[in-house]
Amino acid sequence: MTDKRRFSVVIAGGGSTFTPGFVLNLIQSEDKFPLRKLKFYDNDAERQEKIGAACAIIMKERAPQVEFEYTTDPAEAFSDVDFVLGSIRVGKYHMRSLDEKLPLKYGVNGQETTGPGGMAYGLRSVPAIVEIIDYMEKYSPKAWMVNYSNTIAIVSEGVRRLRPHSRVINICDMPIDLMSRMAKIVGLHDYHDLDFVYYGLNHFGWWKHVYDKKTGKDYMPELKKYVAKNGYYVGGDYDQDTEDSWVETFKKAADCYALEPNTLPNTYMQYYYYPHYEVATANPHFTRTDEILEYRQKIVFGECARIVKEGTAKNNMWDRNAIHSEYIVEICHAIAYNTREKFLANVPNNGAICNMPDDCIVEVPCLFGANGVEPLVVGEAGRFQRALMMQQVTCEQLVVDAYVEKSYTKLWEAFALNKTVPDGLIAKKILDDMIPANKPYWPDLK
Ligand code: NAD
Ligand code: G6P
Ligand code: MN
Repeated sequence: MTDKRRFSVVIAGGGSTFTPGFVLNLIQSEDKFPLRKLKFYDNDAERQEKIGAACAIIMKERAPQVEFEYTTDPAEAFSDVDFVLGSIRVGKYHMRSLDEKLPLKYGVNGQETTGPGGMAYGLRSVPAIVEIIDYMEKYSPKAWMVNYSNTIAIVSEGVRRLRPHSRVINICDMPIDLMSRMAKIVGLHDYHDLDFVYYGLNHFGWWKHVYDKKTGKDYMPELKKYVAKNGYYVGGDYDQDTEDSWVETFKKAADCYALEPNTLPNTYMQYYYYPHYEVATANPHFTRTDEILEYRQKIVFGECARIVKEGTAKNNMWDRNAIHSEYIVEICHAIAYNTREKFLANVPNNGAICNMPDDCIVEVPCLFGANGVEPLVVGEAGRFQRALMMQQVTCEQLVVDAYVEKSYTKLWEAFALNKTVPDGLIAKKILDDMIPANKPYWPDLK
């Protein structure tokens, strides 16, 4: 008998720049993951309205059978849902811009999810994600939350400590983006054709193996040769829409690979291996946020306004599949139909990386199914990787300590310990600048 279930999904962070692309992807995946209801939830009604009004037109034209609404009322948003997708950015781009710029004032790398900026963002996100989990548990206790709101490493540690039994899966799309590039490099269709052994922390990891899923062929030698020269940059049509800073990032992976050539690095290792280079090449007055405001945000909101004005979503810019949204639909599908497919998730280690502590959050391959995720054992981390991970994961734990204990000292320690920060006094200066800026979001630190 065929499974006739249809699902109800709420996107928390409906005003996200990724929302319309995701909606189009959900519609295109109707045969794989059918919907009965789609809702958006956001705490900024005005921002969500712009995306919501355009998506209402998309839904009416493409999926009239699916009930659609957007709201700022938690009871309405979280009642009768099967999946909550976490896509919030606490403090929005204004705070991301400060996360990037304040450290740069002191010669420290400024980045969304790494270094002091990433820790500041994580500390803002923890209470907001806990609030969303509580809404979900109150109004739809059987639902699953697939969360990709950053800083995922810190959010995952916060959830582990504060809501350890909640039905939340914290994921990241960076490895999938890179595996799509790997597939292209070795001449395969896409990342589904590759099998992998990957381990690390979020935005902090390495591939031990990359195989052909059908034949088992080992692609590491070929990939290493390519990455040593070009990083993960593919070029041509594949990269026609890749923004400049991402092109730099994909290319920089060649230098990251050079430092540790037994594995293939996640691109985020650039911030830890080469912080001086990152600072030297950054423009403290024009960071990634400024690029997004001029590019992605402008294009997404402009396209939404056009759809609303013309009253139709014909020929919209999202008709092409985006990897980010495709991946999330696949994860929901795996949970809904208990497929036990292998994806990466951020989970308590419990032996998955044999030489890391049990209670730290790691990003490892897991089987995804109706009862959540089951981590797979990946073996030992290399000596170099283990030391780096211990330093980084301790920073992430200290940020959550700072949240729970409202402790200034714990947050200072987290900043001072981070590999991107050279000195305790510099850590303190950055922290002291960040405290007033984060006042609406952080606990009062004593
Ligand atoms: P965005 O700023 O465009 O949208 C985020 C939305 O969240 C905004 O509309 C904002 O009003 C809303 N929001 C903020 N705080 C909220 C709260 N407490 N409750 C409800 N809504 C709230 O952000 P974006 O660039 O589209 O990114 C969305 C999120 O997805 C970010 O956390 C980003 O870091 C994350 N992301 C993660 C991955 C991954 O691999 N894990 C990939 C892409 C994006
Ligand atoms: C990747 C990471 C995300 C991160 C995003 C930032 O997709 O996996 O965690 O949020 O990059 O991209 P942006 O285009 O917003 O700088
Ligand atoms: Mn990510």
